[in-house]
Amino acid sequence: MSDWIIRLAERRDVPELLVIEVAQFPEPWSRAMLLDEINNVENRRYTVAIENKTIIGYLGVMFVMDELHINTLGTLTGHESRGVATSLMDEAWIDAQARGVLRATLEVAVSNNRAQALYARYGFRPVGVRKNYYERTQEDALILWADLD
Ligand SMILES: CC(C)(COP(=O)(O)OP(=O)(O)OC[C@H]1O[C@@H](n2cnc3c(N)ncnc32)[C@H](O)[C@@H]1OP(=O)(O)O)[C@@H](O)C(=O)NCCC(=O)NCCS
Repeated sequence: MSDWIIRLAERRDVPELLVIEVAQFPEPWSRAMLLDEINNVENRRYTVAIENKTIIGYLGVMFVMDELHINTLGTLTGHESRGVATSLMDEAWIDAQARGVLRATLEVAVSNNRAQALYARYGFRPVGVRKNYYERTQEDALILWADLD
């Protein structure tokens, strides 16, 4: 049993999301980018996992027709391997299936074995590579796709 709850992200969450961004991503999103994403309720859906009033993980997805694009997924440092990211993905998957989403896609750094193993459990498979996808590190990204049905 997990000790956290999952709810939709709100503007007031941005300072805590920035902490996760800076700690977990080589190219962290800015406050303005995060606010833009959360404010875009038309085709974005951002969720947070909250334990003891602290955000311990978050997931951001975008809907493009019958596709789900995973924009970001991060767990607060010190809370990895507890199932936080898995629970956020499970919740988003159920929501997407209910919306009639058929396919999901994302980009992940070729060296990010941890995230790739997690995504593989949802049926994500590599279909191609985006060369030098990450500006700062010049690292390539794998393009992954999964079927939801
Ligand atoms: C990748 C990332 C999101 C994973 O988050 P997480 O919350 O640690 O993920 P989970 O705990 O759900 O699953 C990760 C591992 O914990 C294991 N696990 C899941 N629930 C568990 C539990 N209750 N107890 C112990 N281990 C558990 C899973 O089996 C999994 O193992 P594996 O990685 O060896 O396959 C996190 O490491 C992160 O923020 N990384 C940096 C940002 C990033 O790379 N994001 C993805 C970019 S595309």
